[in-house]
Amino acid sequence: MVASTGRVSEGEHLKALGAAEVIDRQVLAAPGKPIGKERWAGVIDTVGSHTLANACATTKYRGAVAACGLAGGMDFPATVAPFILRGVTLYGIDSVMAPLAVRHEAWARLGQDLDIVRLERITCEIGLSEAIEVAAQLLDGKVRGRVVVDVQGGRSPS
Ligand SMILES: NC(=O)c1ccc[n+]([C@@H]2O[C@H](COP(=O)([O-])OP(=O)(O)OC[C@H]3O[C@@H](n4cnc5c(N)ncnc54)[C@H](OP(=O)(O)O)[C@@H]3O)[C@@H](O)[C@H]2O)c1
Repeated sequence: MVASTGRVSEGEHLKALGAAEVIDRQVLAAPGKPIGKERWAGVIDTVGSHTLANACATTKYRGAVAACGLAGGMDFPATVAPFILRGVTLYGIDSVMAPLAVRHEAWARLGQDLDIVRLERITCEIGLSEAIEVAAQLLDGKVRGRVVVDVQGGRSPS
């Protein structure tokens, strides 16, 4: 498994979560060729734009790419080459309108497949009173993983 990040300082943390290799996201974000050397059996992409196009262009024969975000842009500057020459499949992932049955299946798989110890390493809980401070850190790219806001806990905002 290979992880990509813009925060090189997070490399060891990503390796502890299971990444064999960590690459700088700038490498994937630059405009690339319509088709390139086969690298990935599967890709999960939260970025879009050139990163998604490059992911498709370097996915192995009959591999799959899941597009689930647009952190880098909503455009998709790609060609059909990976799809018609390598049989690559591009899956669209939507969590907003996903049917309940699909959600149940996904949650069951998360419960079964996710290592709870690793999950705990990427989550933390805060009280509602801390939300504004942590939101600023989140926007500054200083928050690791996911933050759960306990709306019952912590001090009330004044
Ligand atoms: N499909 C759906 O139903 C659905 C539902 C909710 C959200 N989304 C989308 O999924 C994406 C990820 O959601 P999220 O909550 O994880 O968002 P996020 O926390 O804002 O971003 C996720 C990561 O993307 C990386 N990133 C930020 N800007 C980037 C850029 N310009 N180019 C490349 N990477 C960049 C950062 O990783 P590093 O700091 O490690 O580089 C960041 O931690 C978002 O685009 C969101 O809109 C989709």
